[in-house]
Amino acid sequence: MDRFLMDEDGIYYALDLGATTCRVLRIQLGGRGSKIINHKVEQHQIPQELTSSTSEEFFDFISLTLKEFVEREENGINQVPDERKELGFTFSFPVRQLSISSGVLIKWTKGFAIEDVVGKDVSQCLEEAMSRNGLNMHVGALVNDTVGTLALGHYYDKDTVAAVIIGTGTNACYVERSDALIKSQGLLTNSGGMVVNMEWGNFLSAHLPKTSYDIALDDESPNRNEQGFEKMISGMYLGEIARRVLHRIAEESDIFGESAYHLSVPFILRTPLMAAMHEDDSPHLREVGRILEEQFQMPGISLKARMLVVRVCDIVSRRAARLTAAGIIGMLKKIGRDGISDVASGRTKGKPKRSVVAIERGLYTNYSMFREYTNEAITDILGEELAQNVVLRVAEDGSGIGAALLAATYSSKR
Ligand code: BGC
Repeated sequence: MDRFLMDEDGIYYALDLGATTCRVLRIQLGGRGSKIINHKVEQHQIPQELTSSTSEEFFDFISLTLKEFVEREENGINQVPDERKELGFTFSFPVRQLSISSGVLIKWTKGFAIEDVVGKDVSQCLEEAMSRNGLNMHVGALVNDTVGTLALGHYYDKDTVAAVIIGTGTNACYVERSDALIKSQGLLTNSGGMVVNMEWGNFLSAHLPKTSYDIALDDESPNRNEQGFEKMISGMYLGEIARRVLHRIAEESDIFGESAYHLSVPFILRTPLMAAMHEDDSPHLREVGRILEEQFQMPGISLKARMLVVRVCDIVSRRAARLTAAGIIGMLKKIGRDGISDVASGRTKGKPKRSVVAIERGLYTNYSMFREYTNEAITDILGEELAQNVVLRVAEDGSGIGAALLAATYSSKR
């Protein structure tokens, strides 16, 4: 990471596949010591039916989306015709990395189920689709979204030691000393460090209490007993947990009246709507009433019931935010960057090091109560003073831009 970039120049592309949206990006680097000159990002929705289609259909769709973007971008620009372009591929699912530019899908998460991709090299699948569709591109780097985000975070701020994604799914990665990694013994890196993609969405501990709602959600999910942490904290599930609580209240009381059966539909309450109700500051929670009426066909809900809805959203999101904060501090503790390790070992001379965690995606950036609760919990865990050294910094579009930067770095080293 330390010898990272700065010398590369030219145009690089990235394809960022995270969940039901995919982003296509183009960045222009200025060479020797200069920064990113400009970048452009476009977001496209992946049709729901493609998330359970075949490898060929899926990769054809994303490679065509990329091809159209490249054509639009290069229209009129003086490019060497047919020159092969370098691509950073952000693929945000668990992968067994084989090299900087290749890796095998271990399993799908976040509701995806394209079975014939499991066990295959996803870069190869994409390159084959690009060549089928007449796009002359080479995958220069295959990265997880956390790793792309870390790369961009580090590009802007050298104190960046970790990255967290908290959106539809969740995950984190951090920079570890190579000699501290049992798995990598014998593998030397120039910087002496290595990025560890934790796949923390799959963590769970017997010490972490699960409610009956968590258990039922897991039982009814397509990936039972997997992604336990993700199912408690990420955007795909928070609305659903809140819906389950509200549905039970509706069954056991008459507070929501006749129309409450709408709450029985799984995943009807999406997290952005939950956030909108939670953050309603209109008089008498008018917005909550409007959402319940328009989205769930539940008209005439009393103020008392609307307040209850807000309370449930608050409890569910606060738990998620506090668990996220605990994960972040646990990770910093592992690499001795939580500040507490310094105090405990008597190394209190001088200031504890500043540790920046690059963070991305909607739950943190768009849900302000979630963000506040996460920051509050970090202070609760570390105390006011130490918490000041932990900086959560949003790395906007980091997952894609970081991948393009890595593709640029590695293509020039080949
Ligand atoms: C995936 C991770 C990814 C995270 C955030 C999880 O479901 O397993 O690879 O980083 O979502 O997108």
